[in-house]
Amino acid sequence: MRRQISDPRKHPEDLRSHRWLGLDDLRSFGHRSRLRQFGYDAVDWAGKPVIGIINTWSEINACHAHLRARAEDVKRGVLQAGGFPVELPAMSLAEPFVKPSTMLYRNFLAMETEELLRSHPIDGAVLMGGCDKTTPGLIMGAISMGIPAIYVPAGPMLRGNWRGQFLGSGSDVWKYWTERRAGNISEKEWSEIEGGIARSFGTCMVMGTAATMMAITEALGLALPGASSIPAADANHPRMCGAAGRRIVDMVWEDLTPARILTSAAFDNAIKVHMAMGGSTNAIIHVIAMARRAGLSLDMQRFDELSRQIPVLANVRPSGKYLMEDFFYAGGLRALMLALEEKLDLSCMTVTGQPLGENIAGAHIHLPDVIHSPDDPIYPEGATAVLTGNLAPRGCVMKPAAADQRFLHHRGRALAFEDYNHMAREVERDDLEVTPDHVLVLKNAGPKGGPGMPEWGMLPIPKKLVKAGVRDMVRISDGRMSGTSYGACILHVAPESFVGGPLALVATGDEIEIDVAARRIHLHVSDEELARRHAAWQPPPPRYERGYGAMFSAHIGQADDGCDFDYLETEFGAPVDEPAIY
Ligand code: FES
Repeated sequence: MRRQISDPRKHPEDLRSHRWLGLDDLRSFGHRSRLRQFGYDAVDWAGKPVIGIINTWSEINACHAHLRARAEDVKRGVLQAGGFPVELPAMSLAEPFVKPSTMLYRNFLAMETEELLRSHPIDGAVLMGGCDKTTPGLIMGAISMGIPAIYVPAGPMLRGNWRGQFLGSGSDVWKYWTERRAGNISEKEWSEIEGGIARSFGTCMVMGTAATMMAITEALGLALPGASSIPAADANHPRMCGAAGRRIVDMVWEDLTPARILTSAAFDNAIKVHMAMGGSTNAIIHVIAMARRAGLSLDMQRFDELSRQIPVLANVRPSGKYLMEDFFYAGGLRALMLALEEKLDLSCMTVTGQPLGENIAGAHIHLPDVIHSPDDPIYPEGATAVLTGNLAPRGCVMKPAAADQRFLHHRGRALAFEDYNHMAREVERDDLEVTPDHVLVLKNAGPKGGPGMPEWGMLPIPKKLVKAGVRDMVRISDGRMSGTSYGACILHVAPESFVGGPLALVATGDEIEIDVAARRIHLHVSDEELARRHAAWQPPPPRYERGYGAMFSAHIGQADDGCDFDYLETEFGAPVDEPAIY
């Protein structure tokens, strides 16, 4: 019997999987016989929600090395709650290994997630990821598919350690690499750092893109309360996985879909949390893409508006001093959100079936130097500034808290590099004509030009200046920057140079001015001269002629649009395209 409209809970006949497993026809016979081939019996699946565990574990992704075992914890929870778990592997996107950039494949994972869920008899999804692009990829796909979904963050690795000092992923690599280039670190010391900086499974443990996106996803309401802060190696982590497995079964019966959770208010909450965490600039691209999948018209300016209202509270590198392990001991994201509660919409629905306010009630800040109060912030304004001007008509971003403050208003001559290889050669020259006041400009690092918008935005300081003790300069590119990076780096310039954006027209010696307080970036070249240069500009040859790369190049959007593919736009809440079963 079909459920009545007034009945809020689903019945077994309402499940998606019922079409595959519950009918008395030839196809259903085939599906059931193939489950019996595994050794299952009808009691395992009949009338139960089928839970798809989308797992981005792989043997080349140390950030997700534990997810194979953690999937068993999720399954335990699913079975306890009366569901039928099915694990489905998906592309892992290991940040250190996937070239030219994992960003080339974020949308690939999003498509894979959506189609894995669509094409199989899945009623609800557990999304297991954490390494940078895996979180937005999984969430974008799940939003588009529209079935109940809960996110299980991989969690940060333990603190790095070298000779008694805590090391942070990425941030300390850049720091000590600069010292090595300056001749201040020996080969032996460098090798010791290599062995001490990543000591356990789990994601980068600074406030990089991974920690930022895990926190943002929890703040959106898509993960269990506190889940994103748990270190991967902590016993709380498998307990959280079991709880997620139990919860997703009820979410299916309650039909608690992303459409019931993701509102403009939920995205505002997530952006505010991003600011209070001092989060990665990469999150801007991902959150815009996620919001647009949810049918919401979010743009970069919203980040800037909210940035001005929200101070940085998390004292975590690269903006602060501590690491994610400390953040967990300090009370984690629930404690940070409680400190921010006056700024948040606490009525937003979450995967618990409860509003956000219920989820954070009772949280406590245990280490006030790690999570500061709004009265005593790390940085008075938020993590991100969005600048516009004739050099970036559609905007660009900067992380003021992570820059030498004297560069927040600066005018200097450009030193322009045509591409990454050009830049890499030049910065090593001892006779390079450069001063600390120059503005380094890198072209062709954008979505199409990189390709895939690689994290080249923290351009290396020229060696000549490093030896002279210079540690920060203004750097501008249409690329991204690792969330673990820092410095006066201006990123995501849109439109990118590869498609003829104004960045393509910058010549060495031009003057560039940035004024962060006024949110302005200006190339001091006349409009007539820029028009002349534009007329003479030749588009570079396409990066790809075939395969996924060619599809990527043809359909990728610019940074301010979230870099999604144009054909993946979703009408949120509309009936999902279901496969025919023949
Ligand atoms: Fe995976 Fe940083 S390399 S999170």
